[in-house]
Amino acid sequence: MEDYGRFLALLASSLLVGFVSVILSLVWVFHYREGLSWDGSAAEFNWHPVLIITGFVFIQGIAIIVYRLPWTWKCSKLLMKFIHAGLNTIAMILAIVSMVAVFDFHNAKNIPNMYSLHSWIGLTAVIFYSLQLFLGFAVFLLPFAPVRLRVALMPIHVYSGLTIFATVIATALMGITEKLIFALTNPAYSESPPEATLVNCLGLLLVIFGSLILWMASRPHWKRPAAENAKILRPIGATPEGTEVESTMTNSSNADKSDLRSNTEAARKQNIKHDEAGLRSTM
Ligand code: HEM
Ligand code: HEM
Repeated sequence: MEDYGRFLALLASSLLVGFVSVILSLVWVFHYREGLSWDGSAAEFNWHPVLIITGFVFIQGIAIIVYRLPWTWKCSKLLMKFIHAGLNTIAMILAIVSMVAVFDFHNAKNIPNMYSLHSWIGLTAVIFYSLQLFLGFAVFLLPFAPVRLRVALMPIHVYSGLTIFATVIATALMGITEKLIFALTNPAYSESPPEATLVNCLGLLLVIFGSLILWMASRPHWKRPAAENAKILRPIGATPEGTEVESTMTNSSNADKSDLRSNTEAARKQNIKHDEAGLRSTM
């Protein structure tokens, strides 16, 4: 894999930033707010940010880049599809529970539903996310869809997946701002109390997390190789025993090795060409 070290650095940073975001959301609700419970009180509302940040932001982000982890390229595509679909399903479930929490809280406190821009964009993102999940299962996981349909849908799947993810981050930022404006009265948000500083930092981390994931997911040379190229594009050191590549690498002369390298380069270029034409591996 090209720039393996850079990929690892970005991956480690995104995991760290995502993990710290989840911790900060917990510190926010436990240290500064009413904690978590399910009784129609403000503590029930608090499930909303915690589950959104854990599921809809962090887990969805990991689900998006899971195909790009070079050590998974030796795993079957079907297994990776199960992992990608499974993580996205967990994210969806947590997002739904978080929505139930906020609607339940609003109904218990007689607060009107669906009045804000945050709630409009948020609900739209959840609806498109469920559609994406349903189509992903129906077209890419179940064996019934014809190859032509898979090939036609893949660029749309990738584009809409990344757009929904970016929209989710934007919605979370709107929600955070609203909550701080509503909840901080004495001292007010404008007086920058410690809670406001902590939660502003949380918002910044969400933007950084989103940018790292979108960067990793949009580099063509870090894409999972198409099935026919997978053998020669394995990351160095990740070659499973008994494969063609390993036996060439261990038994060959230097000339053979440079041959292999130029083959790898050719395959990589071919792979990028396929990607540009929307012909990524969909099986
Ligand atoms: C309300 C969705 C993230 C704070 C709502 C409502 C929806 C929603 C649909 C309306 C509930 C109702 O009308 O009864 C989402 C989605 C998010 C998200 C999809 C994920 C990106 C957040 C975050 C916060 C937050 C991270 C931070 C605290 C709020 C607040 C309300 C609310 C304060 C009540 C005021 C309002 O209806 O706008 N959210 N939310 N949201 N959300 Fe979020
Ligand atoms: C690729 C998003 C559900 C199958 C992708 C990519 C994104 C994405 C952003 C591009 C990844 C990359 O370029 O490395 C989503 C979202 C989903 C979802 C947000 C849920 C709402 C599913 C489901 C399946 C699926 C249920 C069924 C197995 C695939 C496949 C790829 C893919 C086969 C191509 C991987 C490759 O490049 O080889 N998805 N996806 N997706 N997704 Fe999904």
